[in-house]
Amino acid sequence: MVRLAVVGSSPLHGTIRINGAKNACLPIMAASIMTEGRSVLMDVPCLADVHAMGDILRALGVSVQRLTDKRLSLEVTGDDQCACPHDKGIAMRASICVLGPLLARRGEALVPIPGGCVLGDRPIDLHLKGLKALGATIRKENGLIHAFAERLRGATIYLGGPRGSTCLGTANVMMAATLAEGTTVIEHAACEPEIKDLAAYLNACGARISGAGTSTVTIEGVERLTGCTHTVIPDRIEAGTFAAVAAITGGEIVLENVCPSHMAATLDVMDRMGVGFEAQGTTMRVWRDGPLRATDVNALPYPGLPTDMQPQLMAMLTVAEGVSLVTDMVYPERFAQVAEFNRLGADITREGPRAVVRGPARLTGAPVRAHDLRGGAGLILAGLAAEGITEVEDLWHVDRGYEWIEERLRAVGAGVARVGSTPVAPGQTELFRLRAAS
Ligand code: EPU
Repeated sequence: MVRLAVVGSSPLHGTIRINGAKNACLPIMAASIMTEGRSVLMDVPCLADVHAMGDILRALGVSVQRLTDKRLSLEVTGDDQCACPHDKGIAMRASICVLGPLLARRGEALVPIPGGCVLGDRPIDLHLKGLKALGATIRKENGLIHAFAERLRGATIYLGGPRGSTCLGTANVMMAATLAEGTTVIEHAACEPEIKDLAAYLNACGARISGAGTSTVTIEGVERLTGCTHTVIPDRIEAGTFAAVAAITGGEIVLENVCPSHMAATLDVMDRMGVGFEAQGTTMRVWRDGPLRATDVNALPYPGLPTDMQPQLMAMLTVAEGVSLVTDMVYPERFAQVAEFNRLGADITREGPRAVVRGPARLTGAPVRAHDLRGGAGLILAGLAAEGITEVEDLWHVDRGYEWIEERLRAVGAGVARVGSTPVAPGQTELFRLRAAS
């Protein structure tokens, strides 16, 4: 069992470079299934999820090679395989991203139905609704989605659901529509920057997509897509998490390679809490020199506050002065971290769909368990603010979304150590090899 030992520390100072966004990379990698020729992606983080997507694509006939620690090459070398490997498919929700590309390019797709998780029920009905509207026949059998279509046809599709828009659902339908006959209009599309980045990649490959990043996306189908070179956008969640490191420890951290406009909602909450920040181009300085103040937090689809920042902000609220209400409209059940924060001394109660955080709590180190990626990041933050040593178990969750978390925290002065049987995170052995060879 790999865990992170975190020594509660004094204010942290230093500079951290933010990586390319995991949630932009994964659908872009899947989109490469539809291209002819090589794509080179720049600023691809070395993460367990990226590694897992690479494995899935290899099984589907895509040659995936990490050229340097941040550049990834993708090229289809065989197109007769339509089935996503079951074990890898069920292990990662983003495996659903190969559904649209396989269907559009190979006429058939077999993808395991991804399970629910600690974030609550995560249906895929909107993905299927969109692809059916493009003319696909879809059956669910033996735990698989089996989709087929000779040629997809453009359509106007309303893709909103009970919780608003869907990111990967929008990605799937948008990808499939690039090779469909005629024009597709997606209404109530997800507006997340990662969708805009996927469209930028596809357009550079020859697709004709407009409106990505707004709630109406129009796709004029084309006959073929080529490869291209594309730089992935900075990870707004990683940036928000490291901003929270500066804030919760009362330190000052300079974040490089950020896109501040993608972080407006997160920065607004931090501003209300008394955190200072100053952006200049792609660099942002974040600091705190007064006490943290309570504020209400409500996670919503973009441009609202990202649900993927909710647990990290909750960690900050545990030590803030006053009472805060935390609501998550995207994943109303995303509260697995609450019991773990309370183990560290926080005072949080669940009241229906909300968590009530009473601060400031005196946090003291204890063994805690990460139940999911962002909850794990929240626990590391709480550990940094706690007295003594906190051990965050099941660090593999965190490794899915944060590259070299311990090295990067140590670079700003944190006392952290990875403890357990494997010295490096899953998926990072490849990077280890590249580093050793250079
Ligand atoms: N939903 C439906 N039907 C669907 C799809 C989604 O009702 O067919 C609902 C979901 O249950 C949820 C809401 O719509 O309530 C939004 O889910 P969405 O589809 O947008 O989530 P996703 O695309 O599966 C991505 C990220 C998540 C992030 C969410 C929300 C990737 C690989 N994953 O998931 O990232 O939380 O968008 O922003 O892009 C993470 O990085 O830690 C993570 C969980």
